[in-house]
Amino acid sequence: MVEDRSEYIKGVKKKWEEHANSYDEWYEKFEGAVENYVDWELLKGYLPKNRYAKILDAAGGTGRITLPLAKMGYSVTLCDISPGMLNVAKEKLLGAGILDKVEILECDVCKLQFADESFDFVICWDGMIEAAKELIRVLKREGKISIFLMNRFGAAINRFREDPESALDLLRREPSYISHDEEKHRAVSAEEARELFKAEGVRVIDIYAVCGWLDVLPIPEEIQESRNWDEKFFSQVTEIVLRLSKEPSVKGMSRHLVLYGEKI
Ligand SMILES: C[S@@+](CC[C@H](N)C(=O)[O-])C[C@H]1O[C@@H](n2cnc3c(N)ncnc32)[C@H](O)[C@@H]1O
Repeated sequence: MVEDRSEYIKGVKKKWEEHANSYDEWYEKFEGAVENYVDWELLKGYLPKNRYAKILDAAGGTGRITLPLAKMGYSVTLCDISPGMLNVAKEKLLGAGILDKVEILECDVCKLQFADESFDFVICWDGMIEAAKELIRVLKREGKISIFLMNRFGAAINRFREDPESALDLLRREPSYISHDEEKHRAVSAEEARELFKAEGVRVIDIYAVCGWLDVLPIPEEIQESRNWDEKFFSQVTEIVLRLSKEPSVKGMSRHLVLYGEKI
């Protein structure tokens, strides 16, 4: 089993090494910019009031979240399995003159090298419910966690056109897993996520439906791919996406869920 895990990690690492230099380009396009805006609008309301608070950005990649957090004055630790992704983050932090403000570590989020209750806030935006126990272990009591999860119903909707049987399997099987490129993660509904975190001693504050709304709306592909856009349209799109992300009646439809909770 240990060997399996190390083979699996090798594959994941290889995949992200190949994506490292192009990963940020997606956020320069309309679709990525909308998602980044919505992610931040949701996160802002949960950040610690104390700007010296210790934040862990686990599986933080090229520092999309780390960089602005460090600029805000937080003490940030960025960890990721991919040295290539971390190198891009280092370059960006160096360019911003704040490399010395961030601790950077190469590690697997399922085997964190930190003592229990080391952080005031833990973020893991990579769809990994498998890492939940470990992320909660390193979080202080009354500290907050933000974690992206694979949305079971959203994944089934996405998959149905290409492969109805495997889409239905995602809903029939318990637990059900989504395999994508080299990665495989457990998919959950909002209610399942709520129960799983409650069992780990986390009070779930809210769960939002994020990513993939531009396919549901639907925004034409040429707009999604564009790097220049009309600001009024951008603000209309971000407003509807934010409203959808908070609306309980459509929570199943997005690609990811982002859970916010507090360790009790
Ligand atoms: C989709 S990117 C997200 C990066 C960043 N969290 C963000 O939101 O921009 C996924 C990241 O997770 C990292 N990753 C995947 N599995 C990991 C693991 N087991 N431990 C640590 N990092 C991992 C990848 O190397 C990659 O940088």
